[in-house]
Amino acid sequence: MIGDKKVLFSGMQATGNLTLGNYLGALKNWVALSDEYECYYSVVDMHSITVRQDPATLRRRARTLLTLYIAAGLDPEKNCIYYQSHVSCHAELMWILNCFTYMGELNRMTQFKDKAAKHADNINAGLFTYPVLMAADILLYQADVVPVGIDQMQHLEITRDIAQRFNNLYGEVFTIPEAYIGKAGAKIMSLQDPSKKMSKSDENPNASIYLLDDPDTIIRKFKRAVTDSENQILYREEQPGIRNLLDIYCACTGKTPKEAEREFDGKGYGEFKLAVGEAVVGVLKPLQERMAALEKDKAYIDQVIKDNAQRAAYTANKTLRKVQKKVGFPERVR
Ligand code: TRP
Repeated sequence: MIGDKKVLFSGMQATGNLTLGNYLGALKNWVALSDEYECYYSVVDMHSITVRQDPATLRRRARTLLTLYIAAGLDPEKNCIYYQSHVSCHAELMWILNCFTYMGELNRMTQFKDKAAKHADNINAGLFTYPVLMAADILLYQADVVPVGIDQMQHLEITRDIAQRFNNLYGEVFTIPEAYIGKAGAKIMSLQDPSKKMSKSDENPNASIYLLDDPDTIIRKFKRAVTDSENQILYREEQPGIRNLLDIYCACTGKTPKEAEREFDGKGYGEFKLAVGEAVVGVLKPLQERMAALEKDKAYIDQVIKDNAQRAAYTANKTLRKVQKKVGFPERVR
C-alpha cells in the first residue's frame, strides 16, 4: 500500500510493434486501473535481451513503447512509467532471488521450454532465470496486484512462491502479489488464423493490426480477415473468425455481442468487416495523434524518463536495502 492505494505492477516488452491485441487486452485496462491503484508500468528491456536483439531497434522500440503508454492515456505524473534497465535494483534483487529459486522450479516453466525450443542456438542462462527477474520487478515495489495474461500466470505463481519462501525465512519482507484478472479482458485473435492469438511477432503482417497502422492499412487488413462461408454474423464458437471480429467491434464500440449481432443481422461480411475496420480506426486515430504530438516533444519524454526512473528507484531501493540486510550483507558506512 502507498497511502490508501494498493500497488499495481505490470510490464511489457518492446520486442515487435504493439498490436491491437496488446491494446484491447492489456493497455486499455491499465488505463482504466490507473486511478484506483498506485501503478508502476515498466518497459522491461532487460527481459528482451534473453533473445538476441538488434541494439538500435530495441532502443527505438523501447522509446516508442514508453511513449505509447502515455499516448494510450497513462498519465506519467500519476503512474510510474519507466525503463527497467534504468533502475539497477532489478538486477541486484534478481541476484539475491536467484539464490532462493530452485533449478527444478525453473525447469517446469512452459515459456522457458517453448522459447528454448524456438531459440535452440541460444539457450542462455537469462532465458532460464527470466521468471526470477520478473519476480524482482514485482517484489521490489511491494505490488499487491499484477495484471497479466494467462501466458504469464505461471511466472506470477513462481513469484509468489519465491516471496513466500523468503518471508518464511526472514519475516514479512515482501507483499505477496495477486494476479489481476480483468473483467472479460478482450482476447484478440489473429486476423489470418483465428485459432492463434494476435501477436506482435507474427511473420504475416496481415495477421495483426499494429497500433500505428494508418487507416487505409487497417481497413485493408480487415477486408482480408479470414472468416467462413456461413454468411451470417453470429457470435458463436463455430465461427471463430466472425466471433473475433465481433469481439474487436464490441471492445471498440462498447456494444455487447448481442447488440452487434442485431445491428448486422442480414448484412454481408463485406459491410461488417468495413464497420469493424472503421470502429478500430475510430479508437486508434486519437491515440496516433497523441503519439505524433508526443514524439515531437523530445524534451518532455526525456524528462518523464528521468523523473520516473528516479521515483521508481527510490521505492525499489527501500525494498532492496531491507532484503540486503536480511540476507546478511554488511551495512553501508555513511
Ligand atoms: N514477462 C512479461 C511478458 O512478456 C513482461 C513482464 C516482465 C512483466 N516483468 C513483469 C509482467 C512483471 C508483469 C509483471 O508479458
